[in-house]
Amino acid sequence: MSNGTQREQWGTKLGFILACAGSAVGLGNIWRFPYITGQYGGAAFVLVYVVLVFVIGFSVMLAEMAIGRNAQLNAVGSFRKIKGGMWPIVGWMGVIAGFIILSYYGVIAGWTMAYVLKSFTGLMQADAGAEFGAFVTNLPQVVAWQALFMAITIYIVYKGIGGGIEKYCRVLMPALFLLLLVLIVRSITLPGAGAGINFYLKPDFSKLTGGALGAALGQAFFSLSLGMGCIITYGSYLGKKETLPGAAIQVCFLDTLVAFLAGLVIFPAVFAFGVEPGAGPGLTFITLPNVFGQMPGGAIWSALFFVLLFVAALTSAISLLEVVSAYFIDEIKWSRQKASMVMGIVIFLMGIPSAMGVAGVIPKLAGRDFLDSADFLASNVLLPLGGLFIALFVGWFWTEGAKQEVENNGTVPFGLYTAWLWVCRVVAPIAIAYIFITGLKW
Ligand code: PHE
Repeated sequence: MSNGTQREQWGTKLGFILACAGSAVGLGNIWRFPYITGQYGGAAFVLVYVVLVFVIGFSVMLAEMAIGRNAQLNAVGSFRKIKGGMWPIVGWMGVIAGFIILSYYGVIAGWTMAYVLKSFTGLMQADAGAEFGAFVTNLPQVVAWQALFMAITIYIVYKGIGGGIEKYCRVLMPALFLLLLVLIVRSITLPGAGAGINFYLKPDFSKLTGGALGAALGQAFFSLSLGMGCIITYGSYLGKKETLPGAAIQVCFLDTLVAFLAGLVIFPAVFAFGVEPGAGPGLTFITLPNVFGQMPGGAIWSALFFVLLFVAALTSAISLLEVVSAYFIDEIKWSRQKASMVMGIVIFLMGIPSAMGVAGVIPKLAGRDFLDSADFLASNVLLPLGGLFIALFVGWFWTEGAKQEVENNGTVPFGLYTAWLWVCRVVAPIAIAYIFITGLKW
């Protein structure tokens, strides 16, 4: 290593997979996936989504793992070390995307923490819509929760790879699965739950429009944490003897499973109580509290659900802060402690305008508040562009090196290598260019 110290590494391959899955499983799975699935034709959409995840998502994920593991550096340094030229710009876009996404992600994650508490302090008796409105306009409170969430995120990244990120993901990810299973059992055993399962999963191919395809691929990228160097960074802490394709498949599988299961929590409960499904943040912070409020023991179910969201958000947030921190550690030679604290605080401050926008303190921009605009810039511009260039990089510019990396220098042949190569060469770039262009509608 350049500074003479050994680069940190994951303790086990399972630790690496759980950390990647932790990054992937986030707010995107639990509120966004179920809602767009309902909107775009239920099972028909799930089918398309799964194909896109395992063809394009998997390919880009494997490409990112190969880049990071080969270079053993952050997103910018990896491109610089492997090829140089203009390529580090792709890493740069990733670091910037990390700043942007975490800035508003921290705000929403703060809400989830507040809602755990609120579940026991009147939320169940209140009108959830009014309660949500009153909460998000109470700026000091929102910012305080955001600060607390960011402090926890900083603490874990500060502790490093094995002693921080891996250690916590190994506990938090199984906990998340357990919470999800408990909530599913509650939800699907409610009288009338069948209507929700029907709405969620009944295939309706007429809703599978071009827009649905774009939505599915955009969702796949965001949900799998692709296109911004998260997986490059996590891959850079992986030892040379581990194999990559299996890890990439497992992460894709876990992420998709959690997204799918989240819908089985939400829709049966919503339909059992005859509430309109609603959309996006409204579904999570207004519709669901209304539903929980009608259940016996609702406060407990509500608290469990928001703990689930909090855990999912936390393991994603640490991966976002790690992308940024790794850059300052490798390239600027800051200590991990300094990088995580300074950048965590900067990102926290950058998130305050998002909180102010939702509170109505700062005006909207062409109908979008600050948070939505930041999300649009990251999800619809930076991530697809990043994914596009990563696929092209591996497919055309670093072909032999990538082959050596995914096959551990020829010792572990990858049966699907040729298919993977052509997905990176043409299929993924064309598909991504398509969503990029259709997704640019402001
Ligand atoms: N994958 C996370 C989610 O589904 C969000 C995320 C995107 C995290 C990009 C890291 C990088 O919520």
